[in-house]
Amino acid sequence: MQSKTATLRIDDKEIALPVMIGTEGEKAVDARKLRQDTGYIFYDQGYGNTGSCESAVTYLDGDNGILRHRGYPIEQLAEHSEFVETAYLVIYGELPTQEQRKNFGNLLRENAHVETQMQRLFEGFPKDAPPMAILSSLVGALAAYYPQLATNNFEKDLQQFDLAAAIAISKIRTLGAMIYRHTRGLPFMHPKDLPFCDNFLHLMFSEPYQEYVSIPEVTQALNLILLMHSDHEQNCSTSTVRMVGSSGANLFTSLAAGVNALSGPLHGGANVAVMQMLQSIHDEGDDGTRFIAAAKSGSKGNRLMGFGHAVYKNFDPRARVIGKACGVVLNKLGKSDPLLDIAQNLEQAALKDDYFISRKLYPNVDFYSGIIFRALGIPTNMFTVMFAIGRSPGWIANWREVASNAKGRIYRPRQIFVGSPKRDYVPMAKRS
Ligand code: ACO
Repeated sequence: MQSKTATLRIDDKEIALPVMIGTEGEKAVDARKLRQDTGYIFYDQGYGNTGSCESAVTYLDGDNGILRHRGYPIEQLAEHSEFVETAYLVIYGELPTQEQRKNFGNLLRENAHVETQMQRLFEGFPKDAPPMAILSSLVGALAAYYPQLATNNFEKDLQQFDLAAAIAISKIRTLGAMIYRHTRGLPFMHPKDLPFCDNFLHLMFSEPYQEYVSIPEVTQALNLILLMHSDHEQNCSTSTVRMVGSSGANLFTSLAAGVNALSGPLHGGANVAVMQMLQSIHDEGDDGTRFIAAAKSGSKGNRLMGFGHAVYKNFDPRARVIGKACGVVLNKLGKSDPLLDIAQNLEQAALKDDYFISRKLYPNVDFYSGIIFRALGIPTNMFTVMFAIGRSPGWIANWREVASNAKGRIYRPRQIFVGSPKRDYVPMAKRS
């Protein structure tokens, strides 16, 4: 992969740093020896210019709005694939054969249930607990229920990895539905012999006295939206999973850390904030002008939620697909949603505004996803849990890259210390 070198001149010393080129022509200066050779580090707050790893999972070109999983464009996967197939692709690197797809589906079904003992953990959570707080605790708890799989070394027994991955994906889905029912005081439903998304809808919406009847349009929309979230390169939660995994932590523990990272309003929590913003615009009878004006003030607390992206400086391709799907899904379900009109008008207004144009701020995946979740009957406080269900394959694939890298090092960034220089301890009596 190394073809040429970059030269750095510092303190009258010249050092050659190898250059790395990725398969899509991405360029990097390999700075691994920089500190050792010069005493300097690169300062890159937020890591926006730092490649923390080599990865073969997802390719993202934010300037041109390109997203590919294992080489396949997201638009093609959205049109032809479904969530479970894409999950397989993301984790294992290839589209499954018919037999592989069947076996993977079976493994997911066999591991859909949550142990009776583990179900009791729900009793300790208040009904109004934030769903993501419950989810992260329970995903972490999987390590306690599957101690034989709580390892970072599956290379001798890959079937054990298959099992751990299926447990994670299937149970995060089941736990998501259980959290919904817990927070509503509804009894848990048992998983059935159903495809992944239908099983989720059953776990969410069946009642002891009335089975949920699958609506193909709903299943299809759920499949699409989960697929659209399945991976997204080195985003905050995926990097967190990799960071935790690099310490040798097991898959479930690393995934719990990913769930926590996802919960923040600048990451997965943005889909909740978008709905709250659209709802306020609706309730105030405003046309969005107030929110756009506030967003332009530059204050972090007033950002236009669902707009902008750390990497995309162009349309987020997922926002295009989901934005289009909103109208189609609502149409198919014979529903209308005033928030969709508000979102579309807000998008148009922002895209004409110099503030957003000059900063290359476009709608991101979260801008429209909530409209679809709402149409499916999923309440706003569950949106980030839905994101976590969708993102689980990407987290697993990235964790595995770290765990199976025999030459991998623990992730350990450096810092520039800006605190007090050395000083001597002052006894309590002498402190002013
Ligand atoms: N509304 C108003 N201004 C914004 C917004 C926004 N949504 N996003 C960025 N800006 C401004 C910044 O304040 C900055 O302005 P300045 O140059 O005058 O200082 C400029 O645009 C450039 O910001 P970036 O450096 O591109 O933003 P950054 O990479 O730090 O943050 C982030 C990216 C966190 C996604 C940001 O755009 C944001 O807060 N968006 C709203 C929250 C959101 O939708 N998050 C979901 C992201 S997608 C995901 O995680 C699944």
